[in-house]
Amino acid sequence: MEHADLERIVFDTSTLADRVAQMGRQIATDYHGRTPLLIGVLKGSVVFMTDLVRQIDLRLEIDFMAVSSYGDSTRSSGEVRIHKDLDRSIEDRHVILIEDIVDTGLTLHFLTKILRARKPASLALCSLLDKPEARVQTVDLRYVGFTCPNDFVVGYGLDYRGEYRNLPYIGMLSRHVYGG
Ligand code: IMP
Repeated sequence: MEHADLERIVFDTSTLADRVAQMGRQIATDYHGRTPLLIGVLKGSVVFMTDLVRQIDLRLEIDFMAVSSYGDSTRSSGEVRIHKDLDRSIEDRHVILIEDIVDTGLTLHFLTKILRARKPASLALCSLLDKPEARVQTVDLRYVGFTCPNDFVVGYGLDYRGEYRNLPYIGMLSRHVYGG
């Protein structure tokens, strides 16, 4: 049953599950013989990441970073503050950075710079959703689940003011929720 605050469902539960399973198989193939470290960007990536790791048939480790971008809620400034850093060094590790959605690209661009300075053996970027229309900063995504329309979407980890992360699908938020 669709949530009353949604305009429409954009990616339903089985579509998400199929694509996440494909991505997991692709990562397992690409990293065969290695032990990648998957880094989730809190909090949006958590639902995607926990499903994704269960589809990767490899030895692997996970870690998390929590960041927030300066600026107001609608425009990313590109200045990102780290609230929770990684537990361990990533030097010489094969790192896969996991995001929920890439919009302007400023957050991932900033995180990429920070992580590269820590000298991982490799760094690949993985995002469930890509909103290319809003891109300000080019980011080199190795794994993308879906290209997303330039609407505000919630569910499957994605929030609006902290809510809707637990919806088992991704939907477009209705305008009445924005107060518009
Ligand atoms: P970027 O720096 O503009 O690429 O920001 C990416 C971050 O903005 C994501 O990790 C989300 O937290 C947030 N974001 C961008 N678009 C959406 C959306 O449609 N729904 C929910 N969060 C979004």
